Amino acid sequence: MAEFRLPANSRPVKGITHPPPAGAGAVRSFRIYRFAPDSGQNPRIDTFRLDAKSIGPMVLDALIQIKSVVDSSLTFRRSCREGICGSCAMNINGINRLACTTSMQDLSGEVRIYPLPHVPVVKDLVPDLTNFYAQYAAVKPWLQTHTAAPPDRERLQSKQEKIDRPAGCILCACCSTGCPSYWWNSERFLGPAALLAAYRWIIDSRDEASGERLDELNDPFRLYRCHTIMNCTDVCPKDLNPALAIAEIKKMLVERQG
Ligand code: SF4
Ligand code: SF4
Ligand code: FES
Repeated sequence: MAEFRLPANSRPVKGITHPPPAGAGAVRSFRIYRFAPDSGQNPRIDTFRLDAKSIGPMVLDALIQIKSVVDSSLTFRRSCREGICGSCAMNINGINRLACTTSMQDLSGEVRIYPLPHVPVVKDLVPDLTNFYAQYAAVKPWLQTHTAAPPDRERLQSKQEKIDRPAGCILCACCSTGCPSYWWNSERFLGPAALLAAYRWIIDSRDEASGERLDELNDPFRLYRCHTIMNCTDVCPKDLNPALAIAEIKKMLVERQG
């Protein structure tokens, strides 16, 4: 019988409980995953209890307050604070989302914060996205042409352009790390974010490498490990639809056989 073992030091243990500040009125609790792989220690779940009135409205505000006031070693990524850079993606109350656009009002009770699932952890809430970015690079996310550009103007996108929505991807990785097929095949399945990027370039009317792009994707793992489970579309914080993009790529592959 197959035996599955978790890697050493992978089971989270109970961590430190930080009490609320003196004189706090309503208290909001946060249970946060802490892990420093180099320490040789197991991950732990720390509890932070904050004065609800003293924190800003978003989950990222609470994380910044914890880091500033309670425990400066808490590690997470963030930059823009307005859903543009994609760096604050994490798993909040069981769903992959951006901490900066997740309102505390929309979360009831204790707030549970973990790193994006099924990717190695660099520290605490920071996932290692090396493979994710390599897969993005693998779809050659830039304009490829074989013909010379018009001498008197830039290459124009057609007026029927459909790239507007897929080009809005912020590479937060909420979708790929929420995809069960990606969990089990992340070395070979490109995942929804990279496939959405591939689709964005295939349908770009200026690009002249659509055939080569489709050839590259026509692979049982790279593309066809998507089983239309739809988690990717459900979690995308930018309301994009990677599952539809993947279905469209599969349709294009079928149609060009005919
Ligand atoms: S639709 Fe495909 S890519 Fe999206 S979550 Fe499901 S299996 Fe993954
Ligand atoms: S498709 Fe959505 S969830 Fe996926 S990386 Fe882009 S913005 Fe994030
Ligand atoms: S901090 Fe940039 S998306 Fe959240």
